[in-house]
Amino acid sequence: MSKITIAIDGFSSTGKSTVAKQLAKHLGYVYVDSGAMYRAVTYYAMQNGLISKDGFNVEGLISQLDNIQISFKFNDNLGFAEVYLNGENIEKAIRTLEVSGFVSQVAAISEVRAKLVEQQQKMGAEKGVVMDGRDIGTVVFPDADLKLFMTATAEKRAIRRYDELIERGDEVLYEDVLKNVQERDRIDSTREDSPLVKAEDAIEIDNSNLSLQEQYDKLLDIVKKTLEKTK
Ligand code: CDP
Repeated sequence: MSKITIAIDGFSSTGKSTVAKQLAKHLGYVYVDSGAMYRAVTYYAMQNGLISKDGFNVEGLISQLDNIQISFKFNDNLGFAEVYLNGENIEKAIRTLEVSGFVSQVAAISEVRAKLVEQQQKMGAEKGVVMDGRDIGTVVFPDADLKLFMTATAEKRAIRRYDELIERGDEVLYEDVLKNVQERDRIDSTREDSPLVKAEDAIEIDNSNLSLQEQYDKLLDIVKKTLEKTK
């Protein structure tokens, strides 16, 4: 059976990565978390004094982009690939609310996007990939065989993200998580370069009231139909 490309886009914390990992595992495909790459660049900028509450040195970051090497390495125990920045495993470090607070500003920079999109397109060149993000069906793989667009209410999404952060031991307030979700939605949807929009041919899934199992079953059904069509 020929392999397909699956693009999953949507607002923050809509469960894209959870279902993308499940589908990739089931199909034996590669899963690529494109958001982790924007988070990695943001983490680099924070570590190198280029972005903080005091401001963002955009030119400084652009001039250092060649120093940023992002890679993924499959972790057998976790069952998915973890992200590395210049050889350092930063999978856990990039998931903080602090990184989330800066990432949408970094992701709005065209030079950053050009670098990461090029790498993402190379990773998906052989098909057999499930990639999630904001612009996968519109910019990275406009010819993807299947495009999904995930939505849920901001409150549901903030609760899910709050639970995740508390689970990993971070001290955060629900109100701050909700504010971050809403602020990122705003910046991601209104930026000039590759804004978050639903591709015309994407299938929209509102998972506000779906359990993880219901969501997986629904999407697997759609994937199976797409595979039948592209046989
Ligand atoms: O996990 P969550 O949905 O909260 O976000 P993420 O997928 O880790 O993405 C973090 C941020 O990276 C987003 O809020 C966007 O600003 C940016 N991003 C992007 O611009 N384009 C992508 N393809 C993926 C992420």
